[in-house]
Amino acid sequence: MDPQSRATQPTPALRSLKSVPAEPLLTRDFDARPAAVYERLRSKYGPVAPVDLLGVPVWLVLGYAEVLEVLRNDHGLWSKRLEDWRDHREGRIPADWPLLPSYQGTYIAFQEGKAHTELREMWSKALRPFQDRTQPQALRLEKDVRQYADELISLMAEGGTSGWADLSAQYARPLMLMVCNRLIGFGTDEALMDIWRVVDAGPDAPEATLRLMAALAEVVALKRRRPGDDLPSHMLAARPDLTDEQLIGEIGLLLGLVGDIATSLICNTVVEVLTGDPGARASLAAGLVRETINRAAMIAPPSANLSFRFATADTVLGGAHIAAGDPVMPSVAAAHADPRFAAALDPSSVHSSRAHLAWGAGPHRCLGDELATTLVSIAVERLFEQMAALELALPADQLPWRSSPTIRGLRALPVRFRLGQAAERAPAPAGAASEEPATSEESTEQTASRSALSRLVRALLRQRS
Ligand code: HEM
Repeated sequence: MDPQSRATQPTPALRSLKSVPAEPLLTRDFDARPAAVYERLRSKYGPVAPVDLLGVPVWLVLGYAEVLEVLRNDHGLWSKRLEDWRDHREGRIPADWPLLPSYQGTYIAFQEGKAHTELREMWSKALRPFQDRTQPQALRLEKDVRQYADELISLMAEGGTSGWADLSAQYARPLMLMVCNRLIGFGTDEALMDIWRVVDAGPDAPEATLRLMAALAEVVALKRRRPGDDLPSHMLAARPDLTDEQLIGEIGLLLGLVGDIATSLICNTVVEVLTGDPGARASLAAGLVRETINRAAMIAPPSANLSFRFATADTVLGGAHIAAGDPVMPSVAAAHADPRFAAALDPSSVHSSRAHLAWGAGPHRCLGDELATTLVSIAVERLFEQMAALELALPADQLPWRSSPTIRGLRALPVRFRLGQAAERAPAPAGAASEEPATSEESTEQTASRSALSRLVRALLRQRS
């Protein structure tokens, strides 16, 4: 039976999560080809499937309409608060369940009601200077990001005008780590490596978390005493009553979003352009880089599966009987592949649909999508502008995707490249991003950022090997 007709069939009534044998989601199959796993689940269960997530039963929401219904939450049925998770409340979730720490955060993503609304207001105000492209701070940020991008490309090409590179470790990741540094106003680049260690969740992560927390506490104390033109200072200006702990929680979220999710979107976009999504290539060729990003976010959304929502009352969703307190995990990636959604798209059009859910939807919808699109656009644009040739160094089906229940991102993005004449003419990075002559203060800053970038890239490459 084809998935489309299956999705419209009545699904057998599912009594509760425990009455159906949930199959493990995180298998080798899922790591290699998550899309095939979503389709198998869709054809077996319809738009809402029971899965086992590292020993915990969860409803995976696969249908576009059902994901949208949960995210929009028009009737206040879905909560993101941990207290509304029945099994957790009743002590049935093991304390060492690997995903538990990510649900114990007290930051915006896990708040509801008034506390949530107030935090959204704070984020919107604090982001505005960086996100609203009519603001001088936003323009300065864009200029700096272009400069970091050019410096990274010139570092990549230090061995000559062509070669091999890992675009994740040598470009996307350090670029977004520099953005984190710039937005947070860290004085040192030591924090950058710790951000990466935390995001990477490798063996050094616990120690790096402690160091990073200490560094963030220092930054917060400093910004309270001497506010600057950075995100924590703007957050404090909007909400002076925030405790240090709350502010650190919100900054921690920023690190994940920029340091990890935006990095993944840069890499996923490059892959889509190189491996031949016709819409992604055509829009880039037409100079519509924001459209290229939109298309990549639709085909390979980096936030592939979102954090749980808990039903606050018994309900039926996509034919499944969901009991009060059950967790549901909305799958953006599966929703985008839903035949009912995919049928409405024209894959060869230069203009894609904006109805995708890569930024979420409803009351928890992303607040930084404009900024993220700008950052990713600059990264993609600078790269393709400066390359005469760029191709994957591996067959597309052998790319090393990370094993993650939530993120669709690469561990490495190996490419072969040849720089174009524009990049060859301006190999020295200082002043490369600016058409005006650099002042001596600017040159000093640029030399400092170049050496920070160079150290960072070396460390990221070491860490990867
Ligand atoms: C490519 C990068 C990004 C992607 C794909 C992305 C995607 C998302 C998604 C899907 C959500 C909703 C999560 C949910 O409903 O469970 C979200 C929430 C959020 N995003 Fe983004 N985001 C990105 C970058 C950013 C950036 C750069 C910022 C700010 C600097 C930002 C700020 C936020 C905030 C504050 C929330 C929480 C909103 C809430 O819970 O009310 N995001 N993001």
